[in-house]
Amino acid sequence: MFPSGVGIDEFTHELDRLEKVSRFAEMPRNLFDEGPHLVSTSDLPWGDAVREQSVTAYLRFIHGETWITGGGAREMETGIVGWLGGLFGASAPAGFITAGGSESNMCAILTAKQRSGRKGGSVVFPDNGHYSLYKLCKMFDLDAIPVPAPPGRLDQVDPAAIEAAIRPDTIAIIATAGTWAYGSVDPIAEIGEIAQRYNLYLHVDAAFGGYILPFLERSGYDPAIPPWDFRVPAVCSISADLHKNGMAPPPAGTLVFRDESLLRSAKEICPPNGTMSGTRGAGPIAGAWAMVKLLGEAGYTAVSRASMGLRDRLADGVRQIDGLSVYPGSRINMVLIHSETMDLRPVADALRAQGWMFAARAVPSPVGIVVVPMPHNDGQVEPFLADLRDTVALATPLEAELDPASLEKVSSYGF
Ligand SMILES: Cc1ncc(COP(=O)(O)O)c(C=O)c1O
Repeated sequence: MFPSGVGIDEFTHELDRLEKVSRFAEMPRNLFDEGPHLVSTSDLPWGDAVREQSVTAYLRFIHGETWITGGGAREMETGIVGWLGGLFGASAPAGFITAGGSESNMCAILTAKQRSGRKGGSVVFPDNGHYSLYKLCKMFDLDAIPVPAPPGRLDQVDPAAIEAAIRPDTIAIIATAGTWAYGSVDPIAEIGEIAQRYNLYLHVDAAFGGYILPFLERSGYDPAIPPWDFRVPAVCSISADLHKNGMAPPPAGTLVFRDESLLRSAKEICPPNGTMSGTRGAGPIAGAWAMVKLLGEAGYTAVSRASMGLRDRLADGVRQIDGLSVYPGSRINMVLIHSETMDLRPVADALRAQGWMFAARAVPSPVGIVVVPMPHNDGQVEPFLADLRDTVALATPLEAELDPASLEKVSSYGF
């Protein structure tokens, strides 16, 4: 029946095995951050219905691309960008759907490069910026100028230090709204003033924060979020990931420009769409569009509040465990668990052995455990805390001198 090397039974068996290896069915214990995560939870009245519609839309567009049959997908993309850009405070936003935060950041900095008219140059950003910022500088032959955090506060940056790092060949500053893995928001209004003074392109990496911060602010959950979007006049572009807090199936991110003229520059350097890729699948765009249409502002607000409710319970529980701390500064659904006195590496290993999925990183040294609660984790906060309480006994006293080779192995996503 199938002209293949394997029979259908063998094929199905292998597919089952690969699905199991991927651990999709264990999603409630997945405290990592990429979607589609929106599944039944007592907090959200629509249960699985929205996610199912997103999967249906994805399937209906699965053969689509963004060229000849791209009419529908391009309309969806314009619709998402217009809606989100409006929430970000732009009156005439423009942009496109990308494969995620890395591609969005790349396209933004290529646009900055195009606008600068320079061949090379440098890019200034706080050193807690995502690794995709370092990567894009390498790819595009730009010098990365990471600005160190002030002592003792890895989540922060001093705007004066940003200004001091600017060189005559600097083409852009990148700030972050929702840092990985602190959840902090950089002082973007202050950085914006600097960008204006030096006539620099300012890009905001809100890959993580972009689909949660507006809803927390507009619903009054956190009215004191410092300004970070197009309301800061210098901000030229913003990355915001649909496949993170946008709850959409991957790969899907948004790059929103303040206006059409910036999108034109993006298209000049990356013709014809401004994106890194040529052909893009229409499935992810349709899946994301379904989320945006069906959730809308009210839905995303409910999702954001549900995520933050879980975050608060989790963070409170962690703080009650002797020796554990939650890194300060998070304004979103990101909790970085660490210890000033203990080496938590055995704890991270034991939690993973119990089936929990999360990211770990070597900063703050020797390990930070990163958990990102989302609505699908409803019901899992207390079991996670119970396991954390039990496994913390495995922690060893923190040695003054840590072997750098042993730390290299720490950063991982648990596979
Ligand atoms: C702040 C930030 N920027 C960029 C990215 C990169 O996103 P992606 O993995 O979708 O390319 C991430 C991913 O976690 C992130 O947290």
